[in-house]
Amino acid sequence: MQSMLKDKTIIVGVCGGIAAYKACDVVSKLTQAGAEVWVTVTKEAAQLVTPLTFRTLSRNPVILDLFADELAQIPVPHISITDRADLFMIIPATANIIGKIAQGIADDPLTTMLMAATCPKVLCPAMNNNMWNNPLVQENVNKLNKLGYKFLGPEVGHLACEKDDIGRMVEPQTIIDAAIKMLSQAKDLDGQRILVTAGPTYEDLDPVRFIGNRSSGKMGYALAQAAAERGAEVTLISGPTKLTPPENVKLIQVKSALDMQKAVLANFKQTDSLIMAAAVSDFAPEKMQTQKIKKGKSKSRLVKLSKTPDILADLRKIKGKKKIIGFAAETENLMAGAKQKLKDKGLDFIVANDVSRTDIGFDSDYNEVKIISRQGQVFPSQKLPKLDVANIILDHVR
Ligand code: CTP
Repeated sequence: MQSMLKDKTIIVGVCGGIAAYKACDVVSKLTQAGAEVWVTVTKEAAQLVTPLTFRTLSRNPVILDLFADELAQIPVPHISITDRADLFMIIPATANIIGKIAQGIADDPLTTMLMAATCPKVLCPAMNNNMWNNPLVQENVNKLNKLGYKFLGPEVGHLACEKDDIGRMVEPQTIIDAAIKMLSQAKDLDGQRILVTAGPTYEDLDPVRFIGNRSSGKMGYALAQAAAERGAEVTLISGPTKLTPPENVKLIQVKSALDMQKAVLANFKQTDSLIMAAAVSDFAPEKMQTQKIKKGKSKSRLVKLSKTPDILADLRKIKGKKKIIGFAAETENLMAGAKQKLKDKGLDFIVANDVSRTDIGFDSDYNEVKIISRQGQVFPSQKLPKLDVANIILDHVR
């Protein structure tokens, strides 16, 4: 424990919830693990736990007022300390702070420092169950999740209002473990070359129409982002999506299944692992019409489709020692279908994805998957933001 966070700088923002007393334990343990810890408290938090407590535990001045004499030695403290931070944790995160962050408000030292921070940000919510379930809070949480803020908890448990319900902050040890995991695994894919495919493919019928599917590309983009954040050299082959490509990723945009196959083949040799998250169309119109198809007089129209290449199955012959992870998009018989594809396509792992559920899978920001190995082991995930699911999948690529 002593040196696990050596050379790491962590900012702990403490807000005015009764769980603020638990932040003392977190600050103490982070410091014991070797981290340089800076604590910023809101005025409300300072009513619950005195800044002197945090100053003693962190061995650094506590930031309650950016203009305080105590900080006079540090030039522009909200920037210089924040620039050095490897992690910014808010313990506890109240409904108010979640709302302020989601609206881009920076009106006190904590929110000002957070606004300037480019490091990963973790929020540990604690509040009454009705406050947590309030659609406004949930909307703010979803917005922050999409922007990459990580939420730890809340859990179901005993609340300060004497109920047992959702809203209890996760235990200090869970927060410490998450900090250690995030900061130590940060570059565990350094040196790995990973090819990721994402999104749907569009198969043209004529100049204005195509056959596509509901894939948004979010899972594949999350995989590319997480792999790049963990140090991998990532190439993302993407079908048509509305998404912004992640930083530090080489993007190759394609349209049809055939284009995607060409791009995969052109990059496969130079890769260590392939993660095929794309929802590739299985059929394409046999012939693309060069002019817009006219309605005509007949009541129905037949379009002849032909099979597209199965990109994954065709890689079997040249796979060698490369790791290949496929996805199984199923609306029924999830596990049986996924296991069959794992075998038929000669994969190392398959990620079983229930696309019949509207709260996960296609176009959702969340996913809940089962990762199945070639040896038949099953690793289930909880329902989590796609970036978290991506990190769980990537644990199998290492
Ligand atoms: N896949 C592929 N080439 C295709 C179709 C799918 O490489 N022409 C890949 C997908 O990217 C995914 C896996 O194969 O990783 C399984 O895709 P899925 O759509 O679930 O299954 P299909 O093989 O298309 O079979 P079916 O549609 O009959 O379920």
